[in-house]
Amino acid sequence: MLYSEKVMDHFQHPRNVGKMDDADGIGEVGNAVCGDIMKMYIKVRDGIIVDVKFNTFGCGSAIATSSMATEMIKGKSIEEALELSNKAVVEALDGLPAHKLHCSVLAEEAVKAAVKDYYDKHGIAYDAEKFCNGDCACCHAHDAPEDGGKEQ
Ligand code: FES
Repeated sequence: MLYSEKVMDHFQHPRNVGKMDDADGIGEVGNAVCGDIMKMYIKVRDGIIVDVKFNTFGCGSAIATSSMATEMIKGKSIEEALELSNKAVVEALDGLPAHKLHCSVLAEEAVKAAVKDYYDKHGIAYDAEKFCNGDCACCHAHDAPEDGGKEQ
């Protein structure tokens, strides 16, 4: 069987799907490989992610990995959520076919983008490197040239 039972379960019954009107942080990322999009919403209280929702125009594997990712970060501290890797999500789902691994990256990046948005909106200082392996959609925003003819 190509997909594990857990993948099928989270694909057919995704957890935490939807929108959040009063989110504290929203992350939207695109998958460089397939062009699919993921939006992640978090609600934070005292440094804990008390609620999380996601919406995706991604494939079944993207749905399953995002669903699992939301379950893994709900009730956890922001720091713990930032530690979440796509590898850990894939392991929790008992694996994905190799050609679908890129889909799981969407979930990890969306979580990070949502946390980054939370930090930005609340004026919380952070180490940009935590969000950047130089390769993710949320970080390409930093790539804009600095010169841009700015006046002093
Ligand atoms: Fe695009 Fe899976 S094919 S997220």
